[in-house]
Amino acid sequence: MSSVPGLSLTASGTIPQELLDLPWHLPLVEWPEDVLAALPRGISRHIVRFAYLGGSIIAIKETSERAARHEYRMLRQLGKLGAPCVKPVAEVTGRTREDGTELSPALVTRHLRFSLPYRAVFNQMMRKPTLQRLIDAQALLMVELHLLGFYWGDVSLSNTLFRRDAGNFKAYLVDAETGELHPNLSAGQREYDLEVAQVNIAGELMDLMEGGFVDEDVDAVATSHQFIDSYRGLWQELTGDTAFDPGQQWLIEERVRRLNELGFDVEEYDIRSARDAGHLLLRPKVVDPGHHQRRLMALTGLDVQENQARRLLGAIDAYRAVTDPHGDEAVAAHMWTQNVFQPTIAKIPRDLRDKLEPAEIMHQLLDYRWKLSEREGRDVSLEEALPNFIDEELRSYRDEAVLMVNPPADVVRQLELGASPSAENNDDVDGEPDQDASAWYS
Ligand SMILES: Nc1ncnc2c1ncn2[C@@H]1O[C@H](COP(=O)(O)OP(=O)(O)OP(=O)(O)O)[C@@H](O)[C@H]1O
Ligand SMILES: [Mg+2]
Repeated sequence: MSSVPGLSLTASGTIPQELLDLPWHLPLVEWPEDVLAALPRGISRHIVRFAYLGGSIIAIKETSERAARHEYRMLRQLGKLGAPCVKPVAEVTGRTREDGTELSPALVTRHLRFSLPYRAVFNQMMRKPTLQRLIDAQALLMVELHLLGFYWGDVSLSNTLFRRDAGNFKAYLVDAETGELHPNLSAGQREYDLEVAQVNIAGELMDLMEGGFVDEDVDAVATSHQFIDSYRGLWQELTGDTAFDPGQQWLIEERVRRLNELGFDVEEYDIRSARDAGHLLLRPKVVDPGHHQRRLMALTGLDVQENQARRLLGAIDAYRAVTDPHGDEAVAAHMWTQNVFQPTIAKIPRDLRDKLEPAEIMHQLLDYRWKLSEREGRDVSLEEALPNFIDEELRSYRDEAVLMVNPPADVVRQLELGASPSAENNDDVDGEPDQDASAWYS
C-alpha cells in the first residue's frame, strides 16, 4: 500500500502497484514531468492530467469527493450497459500532503486510445461537411445514451471525445459528472438535454469561429439546430411507429433493414393494432447499436468501430466476388483476414503503427487505392498501392494512438519553428496531418 496515510482507492479489479505509487501526496499541478504524458486535453473546469501507468495511460481529474464517487459509479454502470464512454479505473480519496494538508479527491479513467478532444479535431480549419459528420456523431451518442436511460445534464463537445471511424467520427462520453441513469427517460428529460446541448454546441462553435478554426460560411446557431434535427431524425427512426396492413409483412423487413443500415440491431419489436381498424403499427422496442461491428467480429474476430466494420465487410464482399463468388461467406472472411488484412497491416513500418488504428489504416488504404485506380484508369492492387499510401498519406498523420506522447522529430521541429507540415488535404477527417499541435500540449 502507498506510503500516504489515509489514502483510499476504490477500484473494481486489483489495484496495480503503479497506481498506488503515483504521487498522490502532491496536487496534480505539481506532479513531476516524468509521470505525466503530454496529451491533448479538452477544456475543463477541473484540473485534468494524463499519466503513464504501466504500458497504458490514465486520465486523472481532481474534483470533489461526491463528484468523484458519483462519476466513478456512473461510468461503471454505463460501461456495463455497453455505452460508448471512457472506462473508470479508480476513485481516490483521503489525499493529503506530507504535512497533512488535505488535497482534492480524484477520479481516474483510462485514456481512450486514438481519441481526440474536439479542439484537436478542429486544430485545422474545418470544412462544413466534416463539421456535419462531427455533429452527427454527437447526436448519435446522445441517442445511444438516451436509449439506455442516461440523462447527461451537461452535453457539450468538450464533454465528448471523438475517434475516426472510416470517414466519419464515433463519439464517446468523457464527463458523466452531471449524469443520471433511469429505467427510461421521459420526453421532458430528453428535451432538457437537447436544450443544454443546443446552447453549449452553439457557444463552442462560436469560440472556434472566433479563433478561425471553422469555415466562414458555417453558422454556429444553424449547426446547433442541425444537431437537434439529426437527433430527432435518429430517435424517430429508432423508436417511432411504422403503419402497415396485415398483408404488408415486407414493411417490417424494410424497417429492420433500415435500422441495420443505421448500425442497429432490433432485438425486440411490438406490433399492435392502430386506432383506425385494419392497420397495424410496428415499433422497435429494444434496439442495439453495433450491427456491422458484431457481424465483422463473428466473421473475423476483428473488434473495430461500426463504420470501419461496415467498410471492412464491404471489402470482404468484394474479395469474395473475385476469389469465390459462390463460396461460403465465413470462409471468404477468414481468407481475407489472413491473406489481405493481416499481411497489409504487418507491412506498416513499426514507427508508423501509432498513426491510426489498423482498421482505420485499412479504410484509408482502400480509399487511396480507389483514387489511384481512378487516376490511372486501371485496377491497382492493394499491394501496389501500399508503399505510396505509406509515403504520401500515412506519414503525414500525427500519432493518434497516444497523440503527442512521443512527438515525432518532424513535429517537434515544426513546433519549434511554428511552421506547418505539408498542408494539403488536411482540413478534413479523411486527411488531417497535425498543424498547431502545441495548442494541445498539457
Ligand atoms: N479518459 C480520458 N481519455 C481522454 N481524454 C480525457 C479522459 N478524461 C478526461 N479527458 C480530457 O480532459 C477533459 C476534461 O475532462 P472533464 O470534462 O471530465 O473535466 P471537467 O472539469 O469535469 O469538465 P467540465 O468543465 O465540463 O466540468 C476532457 O474534455 C478530455 O479532453
Ligand atoms: Mg467536462
